[in-house]
Amino acid sequence: MKQGHVLVLGSVNTDLVLRCATLPVGGQTVQGSDFRRLPGGKGANQAVAAARMGAAVRFIGAVGSDEAGRDARANLSAEGIDVRHLKAVTDVATGTAMILVDESSGQNCIALYEGANAHVDIELVDSAAADIASAALLVCQLETPQAATLHAARIARDAGVTVLLNPAPAVPLDAELLELVDILVPNESEAMVLAGQAASDRFDHDRVLDALHMTGVRAVLVTLGAQGVMYSDGATQRRYQAYAAHAVDTSGAGDAFIGAFVAALVSGSPVERAIDFAQRAASISVTRHGAMASLPFKHELD
Ligand code: RIB
Repeated sequence: MKQGHVLVLGSVNTDLVLRCATLPVGGQTVQGSDFRRLPGGKGANQAVAAARMGAAVRFIGAVGSDEAGRDARANLSAEGIDVRHLKAVTDVATGTAMILVDESSGQNCIALYEGANAHVDIELVDSAAADIASAALLVCQLETPQAATLHAARIARDAGVTVLLNPAPAVPLDAELLELVDILVPNESEAMVLAGQAASDRFDHDRVLDALHMTGVRAVLVTLGAQGVMYSDGATQRRYQAYAAHAVDTSGAGDAFIGAFVAALVSGSPVERAIDFAQRAASISVTRHGAMASLPFKHELD
């Protein structure tokens, strides 16, 4: 892998978080508690997670010209992230995620308003082309438009930059984008969707991993929550156990994992050590409230 910075292309959200004794079903109203307005968005979270692990991080994304957007920019800058390619869009609100957290299990459900994230476009990516081409690793998710992600992945591939895609949330994927991905990091249900299986099917890892490699992806890391991680590079396959943790809020655990994983990779760690580092980061994040707020710093893993 090339040495250099991590380039994260992705979303910025304001997370409106409410804790509930049980998550409501359709037509039901439940009482919530401990309402919080927190910084979030998968892109921003992964950028912060990598920066807190010591990586040099540059960010491409969009916020609204509103208070939430100004807060998000200040917050990312304060984390040491280069935000020259974070554009402010007028007349659109910053992306927002309504998050309900189940108090007993820490599981969540999320409804997203994409807002300014929908304005991450090819023009913005072009303006950051030099930063993409000089990166060690490009990290993307699916909360911003795929056309821009595909364009960034093409620039990265032409420049020999490793491309990592976190296919979250699960949506139908452009086949060319998958061909450009070096490392795919889905969770179990995202992996099943991409492999063409119904969410109700049993998770058959051989079948899912084979189907994912058929798309052209080189390495796959399926995050399985408390069950750990499944890694496959096509030739070898291995399961890594998770660290035991008492989960109070799982939002952001995947982002903690990815940020720590890429920070370890760009610092020269082999994949196996990077996975262990990432598992430790994720296990700390689930013990805390919030998504970005729960992301650990490197000294906490030492
Ligand atoms: O991965 C967690 C994130 O997903 C939250 O911060 C929320 O913004 C949603 O995008």
